[in-house]
Amino acid sequence: MLVFAHRGASGNYPENTLSAIQAALQANVDGVELDVQSCADDYAIVHDTWLDRTTNGSGKVNQTQLKELQALDAGNGEFIPNLQQALDAIGQQTMINLELKHTFGLDQFVACIEQNVQQGTFHREQLLVSSFDHHQLVWLKQKLPWVKIGALTASIPLHYAEFAQRLHAYSIHIDKNFINHQFVDDAKQRGLKVFAYTVDKQQDIEDMRALGVDGIFSNFPCHAKMILSRS
Ligand code: G3P
Ligand code: MG
Repeated sequence: MLVFAHRGASGNYPENTLSAIQAALQANVDGVELDVQSCADDYAIVHDTWLDRTTNGSGKVNQTQLKELQALDAGNGEFIPNLQQALDAIGQQTMINLELKHTFGLDQFVACIEQNVQQGTFHREQLLVSSFDHHQLVWLKQKLPWVKIGALTASIPLHYAEFAQRLHAYSIHIDKNFINHQFVDDAKQRGLKVFAYTVDKQQDIEDMRALGVDGIFSNFPCHAKMILSRS
């Protein structure tokens, strides 16, 4: 079972920061998951929706200018990285799961991805882009047909994994509290990977494995990998 570092190794380091990314890489994770959105002046930023919980600022990232964001402390003196800084930190080392946090004009995002692939910052195969906004994923797939799509859900849809197949997704990323055998089996029959979030406790890790889940997102990826390696 694959282990993705949820917002980097965010259990021990400020989430979505370069130190959380570096700690995840040191833990030899299979992938790093990061939240991505655009700020008020349209730069791609790595952060969750609100600033209040994670920084000394307040309000929403998408309503805040880059200059203000750059002045904030994201914990332990860390700054809020932009997408380029995060991609440079990961490089070719592991899978990169970018979760698009809210609807925004994706042109800049697409240009950034294409440029980095061309320059060899990372390989196409490493990238997996996910979102709860499935319309955004359809649009992205039209622009970048090669990109792997992860369809996020916090529910068991009526027709199980059919929605993700219609999106031509590579994977479904589902809340661990909703996952069940029928859903996993249906997804597998449709050729889709199933990744569960956010899985930290030993019992939950073991339950996900028993269900046949392909990967988990964990705030404590080092601990998760240790549990998986010894059982
Ligand atoms: O991408 C998996 C998970 O991160 C989705 O939700 O709120 O933890 O970003 P959230
Ligand atoms: Mg996320």
